[in-house]
Parts: sequence; C-alpha cells; structure tokens
Amino acid sequence: MIIGNSEFTKLGKQLILPLFEGVQRAPNNSLMGLSRVHRGLVKEALNSENFDGKKGKNMTLWTPECNIVLVGVGSKDSFDHKVARNSGARIIASLSKKKGVEVTVRFTSGWTGERMLDFAEGMMLRDYEFLEHQEIPDDHIDEEWDVDFQASSRYQKMLSEKLDRIQSIAKGVHLARDLGNEPANILYPMEYAERALKWAENKKNVSVEVYDWDKLHELGMGGLINVGKGSDRKPCMVLFTLNPDADEGVRRPCIVGKGITFDTGGISIKPTSGMWDMKYDMCGAATVFGLMEALYSTGYMGRVNGIACLAENMPGSGAYRPGDVFETYSGKTVEVFSTDAEGRNVLSDGLWKAGEFDPEYIIDLATLTGAVIVALGNQISGMWSNNEEIATRLKNAAERSGESVWRMPLNDQFRKYMTDSAFADIRNGSIGGRAGSSNTAAAFLEFFVPNRGFEKEGEKIPWVHLDIAGSAWGPGSKARSENVNPLFQYGTSGIHVRTLHRLITES
Ligand code: BES
Ligand code: MN
Ligand code: ZN
Repeated sequence: MIIGNSEFTKLGKQLILPLFEGVQRAPNNSLMGLSRVHRGLVKEALNSENFDGKKGKNMTLWTPECNIVLVGVGSKDSFDHKVARNSGARIIASLSKKKGVEVTVRFTSGWTGERMLDFAEGMMLRDYEFLEHQEIPDDHIDEEWDVDFQASSRYQKMLSEKLDRIQSIAKGVHLARDLGNEPANILYPMEYAERALKWAENKKNVSVEVYDWDKLHELGMGGLINVGKGSDRKPCMVLFTLNPDADEGVRRPCIVGKGITFDTGGISIKPTSGMWDMKYDMCGAATVFGLMEALYSTGYMGRVNGIACLAENMPGSGAYRPGDVFETYSGKTVEVFSTDAEGRNVLSDGLWKAGEFDPEYIIDLATLTGAVIVALGNQISGMWSNNEEIATRLKNAAERSGESVWRMPLNDQFRKYMTDSAFADIRNGSIGGRAGSSNTAAAFLEFFVPNRGFEKEGEKIPWVHLDIAGSAWGPGSKARSENVNPLFQYGTSGIHVRTLHRLITES
C-alpha cells in the first residue's frame, strides 16, 4: 500500500467517508472535489433512511468518476480503537481494485487523530495476501493500493509522521504472517536461519547468529537436539540482536519464540485431524522475526535480543522417544512423557540462553498447547508471568493493540504435576493429564527461566509466557471465504508483533 496524507483537495477514484451513527448531513469538507450531481447524491443518501451510520452498514454510490462509499462506524460513544481498526480493515477488504486503486479516505467531524491512525492501521494490516505458490488469476490486479488519508490542516504533521511508522510496523506483521504461511516443506529450521541471515545483510545495526547442528552439540542444547533429531532437517537456534552496540550496561528485553516448523507429534504421533495446522507451529518464532523487522524499520535505537528455537518434530528411527531422559542447555534433565510436548523442550534451551543477556525481562511466545484454545478461543492469548509489573505493562500494550491476553495461573499444584518425575529433574508431561495442561506447560517453562546471574536462590528475571496456539491463526485459517477476524483473511495473524513493538517502544 502506498500511503500519503493531505487536506481535502485531491480526490481518487474511490472515496471512503467513514461517518458516525445519526449523521444527517454531509460533514464539512467531505464532498470537496465532487461534482454537483455527486454532492446531491450523497446529500440525498444521508437524508434518507437508507444510510444511518450504524456500525458495519455501508452504502456505495458508484459513478464513472468516483466510487463513493459511505461507511457506518457506529455511535461516537462506543467508537474505540478496536472499532476504528476493524472498520478500516473491513472497508479495504470490501473494495475492488477494479474500481481504481487510488483511494481517498476523509476524516471529518468527530474524528480524533488517534482514531484516524487506528482506522489506517486496520486498512494496512488487512492489505495482505500470500500468493507465493499458486497461479495468480488473470483478473488479479498487482498494482498496490494508493491511499490518501485526508484531514484538516492541524492533523497533517502528525499524520505524515505516524502513518509511516504504522506502515513499518504492519510490514513486520506481514513478515511474521509470511513465515507462518509458508508450508513446512519450504520453511524448515535452516531455511528460517537463512532468511534471518539474509535479512541482516547490509543492515548496520542488526546482527544475526545461527547455532547449527554442530554448535547445538558443542553447547549441549539437548532440548533442540532431541526434538529435532528425528528429522533430516536439523534444528537450530537463531539469535537476533537489534542495535548490538546500544545501551551498554543497560538491561534490555529478550524475546524468545517457539519455532517448530512442523509438529507431527513425533513418536507420540498426532491423529490426522488437526495435523494440517501444525505447519503453523513456528508462529512464535515468526513473531520474533517480524518484531525485529518492525523495530528495525521504525528506526528503533535501543538494543533488543530475539531468540528463535527451531526444529521439525518428526517420528523416525533417529527420533527421541517417550521415556527418554535428556539434558538441556541448563544442565537440568527432562524425562520425555510425550514427544508431542516438544515446544517446551526447545524453549528450555531458549529461555536459559536468554538469561545470558541479563535481560530486563524475557517474553516467550509459543503455540504451546491445544488446551489454551479450549480455554480462551482464537482471539485471546494465554498469559503467565512471574512479575506483576511486566505482566501489567504487557497486558496494557496488548489491549491497546487489539491483541488481547488473559492472565492464567502459575502455582505449586501445576509445578508439582511436572517436577515429581522419578527419573529426571522434570517431566515434559503432567500427571494431571489434560487437567490444566496449559498451566502445567507454563510451569515447565518457568523451571527454565534462570535467576539473574544464574544464582540458585537469586532474583528472578521478570518473565512472561504467551500461549498463542489459538490466536496465531484461525478458525478461518484454511479457506479464503471464512472470515472471523477482519484483520486477516486467512492463514496466520502475525499476532503480538504490534503488542511487543508497543511494549518495547512506548512503555
Ligand atoms: N503444537 C502443539 C499445540 C497445539 C495444538 C497448537 C493444536 C495449536 C493447535 C503442541 O506441541 C502439542 O502438541 N501440545 C500437546 C501437549 C501434550 C502432549 C502435553 C497438546 O496440547 O495436546
Ligand atoms: Mn506437539
Ligand atoms: Zn507443537
């Protein structure tokens, strides 16, 4: 999407007029540049009972010169960032490029600067397709949308600054979606690493380091090795650092992502149903990469670390088995209860590694448990934390971004379910079985969050775990026609790139 902003002079081939409920007359400036006939048409439409500004109720007045769309955004009292963002997303989804890619959006009476940006953000987020591996239909128009956001003069400076920033963040979200949507035969662990290295090329202030199969052995990263060893496509860890030379001696965030490029379940193999989704089991790692892009392209100057834990979980003669005991990077041992509880195994190495950066806080993202979908559905991520302050900051950033999180319990019952193994320091499955199994998974991760300086009884590093198994995609993830979340049409959502960007840059 090409974006710009101006006052109410230019007029594209399509005019979007978002209007509040109860509107009776055309707001000042909304009809600039239209011919008298068109002005008359809009005025009559607003006077009639056919357009009332109710949320989601639109009216299109097509003429050869301009396609005018009156967009109902509902009552002013309940108009919040979510309504604005979703309205923007829905409207861009409903427009056809055939009527012209030059779009004018006019924000008139009742609009605040912030809501303009939310509406624009919705448009940008929704403007996404993943057409890498299919024939593009002849009638597909490649030309990008060219959108001019119009408002009165006092908003111009703000719009030119902030719209660019929002677009850069959306670019990060779209990168995260691309990675998620790539099939597992194309995006395997070392391919993710290659893409990260390529991304870092010619960028002065980013560094990407890859721990490959040999390096994982050298370091004793048993979590990654054991999960990944059943596949020909070997596991790796990718370490991102944005602005490595900044903030010397200052504690900075570290973000860790689960990157299972395909999760068959391994020897504890999954049933056919639901296995399709498992190409998305690397969405945590996708968010880490997308976040790095968003921070980079918005020109963020602080240091931020990212760790992606990549493996393909396959059955085979070289695969790990239930009952196996292996040693993780931390030195702690894990008894394998199920090879399908692999996400926590790879994250054990990533979380321990994160401690080496002495971070301000650690946030991990993982499509970790099916149970979190049962608990919270597809629009809310589960959140666990050992620290009130960072949990609150993250929750606020998530809510403001329209990417809700819901706090879930970490307690001794769930810890005990995991740590009473007779054969190792911890077990990757719970004696409680399915009871609270998202919580027991979080308790397992907590076991691998090091204290500061790796002191046995030391201060805890503030940590948040986000289970995005529900929110990283669908339902509506398989077919174009399903449409649950207006911010994306199908495939992955790119969840929490925006939340974390906001958390890191604004709070
Ligand atoms: N990747 C899955 C979790 C998942 C399931 C995400 C469905 C999205 C949709 C994870 O690796 C897994 O298999 N978890 C098991 C854990 C169990 C074996 C303790 C689960 O949730 O059943
Ligand atoms: Mn699994
Ligand atoms: Zn998994």
